[in-house]
Amino acid sequence: MPRGDMRTFWNFASADNLAFGSDSTLQLGRWIASRGWQRVLVITDRNLVAAGISSRIEGILRESGLNVSVFDGGRHEPDIRTANLAFASAQAFLPDVLVGLGGGSNLDLAKMSGILMAHGGKPEDYFGHERVPGPVAPVICIPTTAGTGSEVSHSSVLTDEINGVKVSTLSQFLRPTLAVVDPKLTLTCPPKATADSGIDALTHAIEAFTAIDHRQLDAAPGEPFPYSGKMPLGDLLAEEAIALVGKHLEHCVHQPESLPDREGMALAATLAGMAFSNCAVAVVHALEYPIGAAVHVSHGAGNGLLLPYVMEYNLASRAPQFAKIAARLGVDTGSMSEMDAAMAAVNVVRRLRSRIGIPDRLRDIGVSADQLPVFAKKSFEIKRLMRLNPRLPTESELLGILKAAF
Ligand SMILES: NC(=O)c1ccc[n+]([C@@H]2O[C@H](COP(=O)([O-])OP(=O)(O)OC[C@H]3O[C@@H](n4cnc5c(N)ncnc54)[C@H](O)[C@@H]3O)[C@@H](O)[C@H]2O)c1
Ligand SMILES: [Zn+2]
Repeated sequence: MPRGDMRTFWNFASADNLAFGSDSTLQLGRWIASRGWQRVLVITDRNLVAAGISSRIEGILRESGLNVSVFDGGRHEPDIRTANLAFASAQAFLPDVLVGLGGGSNLDLAKMSGILMAHGGKPEDYFGHERVPGPVAPVICIPTTAGTGSEVSHSSVLTDEINGVKVSTLSQFLRPTLAVVDPKLTLTCPPKATADSGIDALTHAIEAFTAIDHRQLDAAPGEPFPYSGKMPLGDLLAEEAIALVGKHLEHCVHQPESLPDREGMALAATLAGMAFSNCAVAVVHALEYPIGAAVHVSHGAGNGLLLPYVMEYNLASRAPQFAKIAARLGVDTGSMSEMDAAMAAVNVVRRLRSRIGIPDRLRDIGVSADQLPVFAKKSFEIKRLMRLNPRLPTESELLGILKAAF
């Protein structure tokens, strides 16, 4: 494609409003009431009910005189059926605003309900990008994991059981009206969910920071494309997120009650969400989508397992960025060559992965060797994400990465 047809610009968007910090949820009732909204549907799951988090949020809402209903049928890595159940409860209650409360799974259910309330139809009608025809019902996202960044992102991810792949619905209309990030809500997050979602945040930041540059992105200026590629504002956010993960993730897993570490990871996840949802996620995510759907590994654990292998694949095309990542993750790179520093980034991510208990082999999460070609094919078909990788992979190169990770 001639250079003139490519993009010379980038875009940036986030949640319309962001409240961050311990006890930021205390403002929630007033914020909603001040908009004239009365009926609030909280979309959550039974673990959040058992942890007392759902009742805490309900209490804050009721104190402001709001009429609250709770759907607690969310589940991790939700499928289309679960999305339909959440929507059915919205149809029955007819809320003015939807509140997604939980990890990325519940936030994404709230977003999908927001689409269906505004535009009807079924979830599958909106899979892919730019298929949501206009603004959705108001959605507020309150994360209880520090990971996905869905509270600021433009996507909702569901598991498509029939086609055996996870699918994103991408639209700028999916940026929440309000994100309330209260790190205290992550204190009860179990170590495994803490580790998995935390390394997902690191993956978001690394994929954004090492993506194809926005000036090289193979997308014509007028083409609706959900990501801009690597760009300066994304770099700032991603670099800070990487440093925060380096400082806090391991502590969150091993000392779950440490609020300063929970605050650090909550900020990391939100910054990484802002970075990836404007710049890119790429080959790590593309490989995880079919694997996660087939063997039911969590999104974060699948990404964390694959991350160092994909970093190795991208290393030569992004050595300066990987060298910076190593430094941000605490490696003293001063006396190293650029290539050695870049390699150190792969090693430090590998070490972090093992310290937080994420498996390092696909065979250990239930993948069999004969599945690898299918995964490579399905990932290769996610062209949107392939285009964002610094190297454009062939299907056989994807298979090579999977074999290395097997
Ligand atoms: N929309 C996006 O931008 C985006 C980005 C990345 C990932 N995702 C999606 O998000 C999902 C993963 O989300 P996740 O990693 O946050 O995990 P999750 O939402 O699946 O939660 C994992 C488990 O932890 C429990 N849990 C969460 N917070 C808790 C808390 N504070 N106390 C007690 N239990 C708690 C949940 O009940 C659940 O059983 C996947 O479906 C993934 O594809 C979406
Ligand atoms: Zn992710």
